[in-house]
Amino acid sequence: MKKIVTIVGARPQFVKLAPVSRALRGKFQEVIVNTGQHYDHNMASVFFEELNIPRPDYDLEVGSASHGKQTGMMLDKIEQLLLSEKPDAVLVYGDTNSTLAGALAASKLHIPLFHIEAGLRSFNKRMPEEINRILTDHVSTLLFAPTETAVSNLQKESIVHHVYNVGDVMYDAVLYNVNIAEEKCKLFDFNVESKQFYLATIHRAENTDDKEILRSIVESLISIKNDVIFPLHPRTKAKLEEFHLFDLFKFSNVKVIDPVSYLEMLTLEKHAKGIITDSGGVQKEAYFMQVPCYTLRNETEWIETVECGWNQLVNPQSDNLADIIENQEKREYVPNLFGDGKSSHTIVEKIEQFFNEQ
Ligand code: UD1
Ligand code: UDP
Repeated sequence: MKKIVTIVGARPQFVKLAPVSRALRGKFQEVIVNTGQHYDHNMASVFFEELNIPRPDYDLEVGSASHGKQTGMMLDKIEQLLLSEKPDAVLVYGDTNSTLAGALAASKLHIPLFHIEAGLRSFNKRMPEEINRILTDHVSTLLFAPTETAVSNLQKESIVHHVYNVGDVMYDAVLYNVNIAEEKCKLFDFNVESKQFYLATIHRAENTDDKEILRSIVESLISIKNDVIFPLHPRTKAKLEEFHLFDLFKFSNVKVIDPVSYLEMLTLEKHAKGIITDSGGVQKEAYFMQVPCYTLRNETEWIETVECGWNQLVNPQSDNLADIIENQEKREYVPNLFGDGKSSHTIVEKIEQFFNEQ
């Protein structure tokens, strides 16, 4: 049986790993490596428990550090374990520092590299994720693109071989879990009523690391008439503390809570009146749930969600978020923009085909 080393480390990668790992089981030997980029219980182990992901074979416990240091520590440890595991391929997801470290380690050792969520571009190289994506795509052997836009982005960079539009594994994850979430998590626990509240998540460095931008975001959230549930990413929490902005939430409509589990998040997303976010994954989940999304960024990689009217880019410094959400319009749902919900199986088929052709 061929051996695949899967490298993950950050919250969205655990969500993506769950359906793919399920599809790989029995067909390949999967060795799961958790870099430890995210390590709080509610940023990491809760996903393994809730989504029944096998325990990682390696916990690298790299933790937080500057980009260079964090990526370098991962690279060192991943290289060592690849040398001893001698896998037939390495599988990476998305665009985090864990993705890049895995990609560099595998490609320099001439191990075939498979990239899930290939071809995404924001065309903003100030985003660390954009650098990670471009570099990973350019050393990947199989590129699993989630959308037609992603395929065409790769084409423009002359990456045309072994590029497959397989749909989005996050759609697989939503379809598999949405009813489980409805059963296990109760909205009641959050003290809000269905379609009477907004859900917000913010964590992008370009939004959190500038005091005035972060202040505008907080002011935008507290200007909304409805309740806002705001599960706080640890980066954002640290920055709100550093900039002394927490007081703005006092006596406001915004309920700041700790990061929630995936099933809790799906429940909140499904029942929200609208979702305000800068997360890549949450933009798509809003679309899958047919909930209007307001993305606090100047550009998005998930351009399809904007084109079909479910997602709107909002600049918290120059746009009035409260006005925008009051004037939201009804939209039509366009099915299959992100595949058929069986992306993980299509990916496994392509991997089997790749090894058969070797
Ligand atoms: C990372 C990814 C980003 C992804 C996000 C998902 C990179 C460059 N960025 O951003 O693409 O969208 O994960 O959530 O890889 N922290 C904790 N506990 C944790 C994890 C982080 O306290 O369990 C705090 C630390 O102060 C840390 C900060 O959050 O310095 C940022 O964490 P890091 O993983 O470096 O970046 P994210 O902002 O989470
Ligand atoms: N998520 C979660 N709990 C939270 C916030 C997000 O389970 O409190 C899930 C969310 O549903 C999605 C994924 O985490 O599946 C998105 O991760 P994140 O926003 O951290 O990263 P991004 O997608 O922007 O890279």
